Amino acid sequence: VRGSTGGYNGSVTTPADPVVIVSNRGPLQHDRGADGQRVATRGGGGLVTALSGLAAQLDDAVWVCAALTEEDVAVSREHGVAAFTTDEQGALRVRMVELDPEAQRKHYSVISNPLLWFVQHYLWDLANAPDIDRELVDAFETGYVAVNERMADAVAEEVEARGGQATVLLQDYQLYLVPQLVRQRCPRALLHHFVHIPWPQPDSWRVLPPSMREALLVGMLGNDVVGFHTERFARNFLLGCQELLDRPIDLRAMTVDVGGRTVRARWYPISVDTAAFEELAASPAVEEKRAVLERQRREHLLLRVDRTDPSKNIVRGFRAVDLLLEDHPELLGRVTFLALLQPSRQDVTEYADYVERIRRVVADVNLKHGSVDWQPIDLRLEEDIEQAVAAYTLFDVLVVNSVFDGMNLVAKEAILVNRRDGVLALSENTGAHEELGAFAVTLHPFDVQQQADALHEALTMALADRRARREACAGVVRHNDVGRWLARQLRDLEVLSGDES
Ligand code: G6P
Repeated sequence: VRGSTGGYNGSVTTPADPVVIVSNRGPLQHDRGADGQRVATRGGGGLVTALSGLAAQLDDAVWVCAALTEEDVAVSREHGVAAFTTDEQGALRVRMVELDPEAQRKHYSVISNPLLWFVQHYLWDLANAPDIDRELVDAFETGYVAVNERMADAVAEEVEARGGQATVLLQDYQLYLVPQLVRQRCPRALLHHFVHIPWPQPDSWRVLPPSMREALLVGMLGNDVVGFHTERFARNFLLGCQELLDRPIDLRAMTVDVGGRTVRARWYPISVDTAAFEELAASPAVEEKRAVLERQRREHLLLRVDRTDPSKNIVRGFRAVDLLLEDHPELLGRVTFLALLQPSRQDVTEYADYVERIRRVVADVNLKHGSVDWQPIDLRLEEDIEQAVAAYTLFDVLVVNSVFDGMNLVAKEAILVNRRDGVLALSENTGAHEELGAFAVTLHPFDVQQQADALHEALTMALADRRARREACAGVVRHNDVGRWLARQLRDLEVLSGDES
């Protein structure tokens, strides 16, 4: 089946072979509402929007994901191994894989987050952590490996049900072992794996014992193509294959040789569904929140919107605001730093501790600089997408100071819908910096004084300069929207399947 993908204004050829999409967290989640009824919530991110759009157009596509909630498990039991459709039209078929809860806990809360996440974002404080002990090795074997095997079985069954020939689109770090396992069972499948987080330099992987890091890399070399957000990450991947597995690589062709087979490393920066996002920004629900925030705002609004993830560098961002107010007392009472933070992965110790550190630093800064009727930091630990988008339209400076970040979609979303000629203050270590850095004020994530100075520069920048930068950023985001992200991957896969058939 060939057609055109939604959201992309160029013409896109969809794969001729059936498509199997694979991710740990799927496109929807089931829960029980207050009335005891089942509710299905669709994920809102760019990935889900783009891939659901693709799957909905194809007759025979399926999305394989883990059953993450109790209600997901109930749904998966009702359907056995059969996929179910998410709407009456049968547009998107999903197969939720039930996993052993203990294996799933180890896979998610011990290995994927924090171990792999911390390795790939350079977050370990190596003099002190991690300890690779028996418990961790057990979590790898009976958690990460076990879950990857279960997921690979489900994927292989779906490929086999489609005659053994399919395009498999795998997503992210929770599933590094799946490609090799699927290749063994389905040698004719075309396997493409997109990594949504940074791929670090080879030595970073030496935190993991050889058996573990080699298993992960060998797993990934089961792919035909491995996709990243940036060229830098793609190069790091190839260098890792050379350094840690002794595989021959070609840095011009961006390939690695795995015994007669070639694996390609490519880069495709992900983006947002710009049309859908602009529509949301103009919706009545967002307007309502916007009116509230307008009433609360002072002269200058600094904003950050993040999951409470240590990679987001939230604590240093607040320290920078402390310095900003020390250096520029004229700003006291005139600027608010609105921090809209969604609690994330709270069953992982490192993440729960991080929320505590955030609360403490906010209390300190507010006590030090605040007055009876004004607090410099307005911390809101909640998930409210309408409020976040309303704040996007209102900020003067958006603070993105991530330690490392695969892309950072907040930067793209926010600059697209901002209505105040807001400035992007963007960490040099985000994937987004490659596209938007020329029009942003660059932040150095570890230098709190530099961040304070850069925030001051952004807050006091002349209007014409701010406007030109915002328009340039929004132009880049509109041009490189999520449709293009998907289209470029599919086009490359089509060329590849043409070469190999
Ligand atoms: C972020 C990352 C994704 C990752 C996702 C997992 O959005 O950028 O790469 O897949 O988190 O989140 P979860 O809530 O499932 O741990």
